Amino acid sequence: MAHIKLLLIWACCLALSTSFAYGLGVNWALQNVQKALNSAGLGDKIKATIPQNADVYESGNSGPSQGDFRSDIRDLMQKICSFFKDNNAPFLVNIYPFLSLHKNKHFPIEFAFFDGQTKAVRDNGISYTNMFDANLDTLVVSLKKASCSGVKIIVGEIGWPTDGDLYGNVTLAKRFYSGFFKKMATKKGTPLYPGFIEYYLFSLTDENEKSILPGSFERHWGIFRYDGKPKFPMDITGQGHEAMPIGAKNVKYLENKWCVLNKYAEDIAAARPLSSPIAPASRAKRQASSSRRLLRSPLLSPFRLTNSAQPHPSLTPDLSQTGAATTGRATIPTDAPPRSAAITAGHSSSA
Ligand SMILES: *[C@@H]1O[C@H](CO)[C@@H](O)[C@H](O)[C@H]1NC(C)=O
Repeated sequence: MAHIKLLLIWACCLALSTSFAYGLGVNWALQNVQKALNSAGLGDKIKATIPQNADVYESGNSGPSQGDFRSDIRDLMQKICSFFKDNNAPFLVNIYPFLSLHKNKHFPIEFAFFDGQTKAVRDNGISYTNMFDANLDTLVVSLKKASCSGVKIIVGEIGWPTDGDLYGNVTLAKRFYSGFFKKMATKKGTPLYPGFIEYYLFSLTDENEKSILPGSFERHWGIFRYDGKPKFPMDITGQGHEAMPIGAKNVKYLENKWCVLNKYAEDIAAARPLSSPIAPASRAKRQASSSRRLLRSPLLSPFRLTNSAQPHPSLTPDLSQTGAATTGRATIPTDAPPRSAAITAGHSSSA
């Protein structure tokens, strides 16, 4: 079978869920891109599609059998899905059982995983033991209601973060991936979408600049850390060959540095430039209140980052014993800080 390439119009994922007008624009973009591909004679090989978050459809408190596209964007989703159908393009959906758990503390945690430790939920004669099946089948029913049965479904994103949330840790991530890979290896699909399902993991590495508006977990989706080091052993084949993913090689690190209290700092708020010109009276008031704020805030205490090519030689042995050097935390003072402070820092970072 010829391999079909996908051209993803990514911009819409979140926006489509919130803005109908924006969605219409994306729909036009979708049509224009595919039209261009078709007229270039590439339409059979390259398909334009718009990845969607799973919040474009819902089933309320009912099971998947009651699924449908959200009423506020149903017309638009109908148009998009018909377009997929006419052009043989796939529906890409991002499914995150973790997010269900994160958003709803009453969500039955076992239902997020695949190890059948949960009581099955019956719906229209079908037993569901995991959220993935129930979610994907809600999409199948929604497509059917939109007269778009037969559109291929691809899981555009799936994964589990390892930090930044009550449910974001390596134990749960490992459990999720392990069950998911095993399930995918059977190629059995879901009750309403039987067979092989193409899927893409989210994500490869942690991202230190990803927005944390939805939560701190956003920077911890990687199966690799930010520096390319693997986090935990995985069995990507789902057939019992668990192994540590192979890490990136030759990653260069900055040297370790200490943060040191600047003993000459008196009031750092006073030295802080004001960004906008304001009237003298309110300026003084604002300065006073901002310095109170600064002095209270532990994050803004008057520390100074020092830079030196040489770590302080007398401190090196202490650090290597405490493990501070290997944990990669902020370390290494330069301007001869008190020795006791150095030792304290080392101990706290290995604790
Ligand atoms: C992972 O998270 C779960 C749920 O919050 C918790 O019960 C478990 O102890 C955590 N495991 C680790 C190793 O932190």
